[in-house]
Amino acid sequence: EKGGFDHFMLKEIHEQPKAYRDTMLGRIDEKTHKVVFPNLNMTPEYIRSIRQIHIVACGTAYHAGLVGGSVIEQLIRVPVSFEVASEYRYRNPIITPDTLVIVVSQSGETADTLAGLREAQANGAHVLAITNVVGSSIARDANDVIATLAGPEIAVASTKAYTSQIIAFNLLGLYMADIRGTMEASEIAHVIAAMQSLPEQVESLLAQSESIKAYAEHISKHEHLFFIGRALDYAVAMEGSLKLKEISYIHSEAYAAGELKHGTLALIEDGIPVIALATQDALLEKTVSNIKEVKARGAEVMAITYEEHAADLMRSVDQVFAIPKTLPLLMPALSVVPLQLLAYYASLALGHDVDKPRNLAKSVTVE
Ligand code: F6R
Repeated sequence: EKGGFDHFMLKEIHEQPKAYRDTMLGRIDEKTHKVVFPNLNMTPEYIRSIRQIHIVACGTAYHAGLVGGSVIEQLIRVPVSFEVASEYRYRNPIITPDTLVIVVSQSGETADTLAGLREAQANGAHVLAITNVVGSSIARDANDVIATLAGPEIAVASTKAYTSQIIAFNLLGLYMADIRGTMEASEIAHVIAAMQSLPEQVESLLAQSESIKAYAEHISKHEHLFFIGRALDYAVAMEGSLKLKEISYIHSEAYAAGELKHGTLALIEDGIPVIALATQDALLEKTVSNIKEVKARGAEVMAITYEEHAADLMRSVDQVFAIPKTLPLLMPALSVVPLQLLAYYASLALGHDVDKPRNLAKSVTVE
């Protein structure tokens, strides 16, 4: 049942190339090089009328929303707000009929996310669900559904669901950008071509698992560490930190790299591991200056960047893990993979139950 892998989590990490392909399948028109969603109820008129977007989800699905919402905001220039579902309904959010509410849920059964959906509908919003379970409560109640086709996810720690949610968000962003006229056909085709290369790029990353394993064994001897990054790299840092906490029980914090010096830098001392994500071209220099700040306080830095920058970065850090190059907006679909492997191998090194971490359930149906 684990297909030759020791744990469901490792199997599911390795299923990601297939999950990316399946989630794109039938949604890309090979003739026009555009995204198609034949089953959506949202009309082009409605899509053109959207004035704001709320993204509502929990945990890893929320982290996918952070990535996906930022992408959509860039592609269609509509303000997006990110909402932890358990907070959303209690803060009396401003929901109008021209608010598109996107709920994200692997299981489609998360109680807080479902309650957020109901709150949105009660206020007249159109709710689009991105979910992996088409027969779920959330899929049934939503006004529209985009299914992620990741296949069943068994391990408590979500991996392939997160990355296929990111793929779904990118497709949705391109679809809306086409209808709203915010992208040229050639730009859309360019992004689609880059997306179609992702599965193969993930395969090449998975082939380098051994170097992550060695680093994970080293990390497993530490009690605290930090993940830093800017923009999309920060969103991925948050997911990397959650994954590590969840199954290895090592304490970590994800920080916006530029925010460290406003307090948290006080925690950086000799030998503390800092994992720095530096995949965003436009922010590279800024992130490198934050890396220098922590290095100067004795941190031991591992940078995740793309091949072209690896040699350059190596001068400022202790270790580099290089990922293949894609468009900046698509980087999270690659950069999260080494972080998933890191959490997996750290948990393994510490002898924990990787697939069933303490205190957690796969589907959280209580509020
Ligand atoms: C972490 C994890 C959880 C879930 C969260 C939401 O690895 O799996 O944080 O992402 O409980 O679950 P869904 O997506 O089913 O609504």
